[in-house]
Formats: sequence, structure tokens, C-alpha cells
Amino acid sequence: MSGLFITFEGGDGSGKTTQVQLLASWLESLGKKILLTREPGGTDVGLELRNIVLHRKGALAPRAEALLYAADRAHHIYSVVKPALGAGTTVVQDRYLDSSVAYQGAGRVLQEQEVKDLSLWATEGLLPDLTIVLDAPAPYLRARISGDDRVFDRLEAEGDDFHERVREAYHRFAEVEPHRIHILDATQSVEDIHQQVRQLVSSKTG
Ligand code: TYD
Repeated sequence: MSGLFITFEGGDGSGKTTQVQLLASWLESLGKKILLTREPGGTDVGLELRNIVLHRKGALAPRAEALLYAADRAHHIYSVVKPALGAGTTVVQDRYLDSSVAYQGAGRVLQEQEVKDLSLWATEGLLPDLTIVLDAPAPYLRARISGDDRVFDRLEAEGDDFHERVREAYHRFAEVEPHRIHILDATQSVEDIHQQVRQLVSSKTG
């Protein structure tokens, strides 16, 4: 029996990490076996790739960026996520292939279908059972992540126009795949969002 595969998406500062952790704690309290993981950087190899793709100084060609995320994903899904799902574990993951289609496709202006096909090839076609997008306007999210001591990574350093393209892309994805992808308003309170997350997850588990 395969475990449920749940992914979270959204702009930087949308509160994904908090919601991923709240969901994992809730599922654990229900006695479920959980794997909490993320991309990029869900494996040792992935941590090295994450460092290159987010923190290496200097320009990086858009297709090279897309391939690095895809390489991270291929290794992570093969060595961590698929074995867990195969053992019946519920996987709660911070970002997955929709991030690549939104950021490298809509953001960097690569062909969205090509970017998606690259990730589908990398993962032998693994799609989540449920994808939750935490949605908010780019300027709102930028204000949230702009602390004095915050060093922006290469994607966060992009302007509001880039992040608005990413946001708009997630809305399109939700229209195309309404059964898998659900948009939640990230400007709500942490607790309100968590309750909506619970409802969505319950609707998948029956
Ligand atoms: P993340 O670890 O979620 O950072 P944060 O917690 O700050 O949101 O993601 C790091 C960055 O990588 C984020 O700006 C989005 C970007 N990204 C892509 O551009 N493509 C991808 O396929 C993934 C997984 C992430």
C-alpha cells in the first residue's frame, strides 16, 4: 500500500515551513508514520546542490538552474521519497516539481511544459496526491522576509515582477489540476490556514 504524498508550494515567506511542521505534528498525533522532507536539499547530495543553486556567487544559466533542481529531485525521490511511500509512510514535503515549473518556467521564462517534463523524467512520473499552495501578493511576502539580518538567496533576490509571475503560474496550475492543487490565502492566521490544511488532507484520506 502506498503512502499519501503531500507537497506544499508558495512564495518565499508564505509560511510553508510552519504549515509543513504543523501538519506533520497533527498527522503524527493521529498515529500516522510521517516523513517530513524538502527540496532542494532533502539528501546529502541535495544539500550540496542546494548550496550551489541558491548560494553560489555569479550568474547561472536558466537551464543549468533547472537541471540542478531536477538532479536534486531525481536523487531525493529515488532514494528517500519513493521508498517511504512504498512502506506506507505519509510524505509531507516542502516544495516539489510545481516549484520548478513556476520558478524556472514562469519565473526564468523557460518553456513550462519542458520544465515539467524534465521533472517527470527525473522522478519517473511521480505526482503528489495533494499540493497546497500558500498564496499572497509578492510585495506582502517580500515585506515579511525582509529582516535586518536576512541574506537573500538567488531566487529571493529577484524582483516583484519575477515573484508575481511565479504566483500567477501557481494559480494557472490549480485551474488545470483542481483535484490535486489547492490554493490557500497565506495572509490568514497560522491557525486558520492549518485548519484548512487539515480539511484538505482529510478529504484525501477519507
Ligand atoms: P526553500 O527551501 O523553500 O526556501 P524558502 O524556505 O526560503 O522558501 O526554496 C529555496 C528556493 O528555491 C526558493 O526561492 C524557491 C527555489 N526553487 C526553485 O526555483 N525551483 C525548484 O524546483 C525548487 C524546489 C525551489
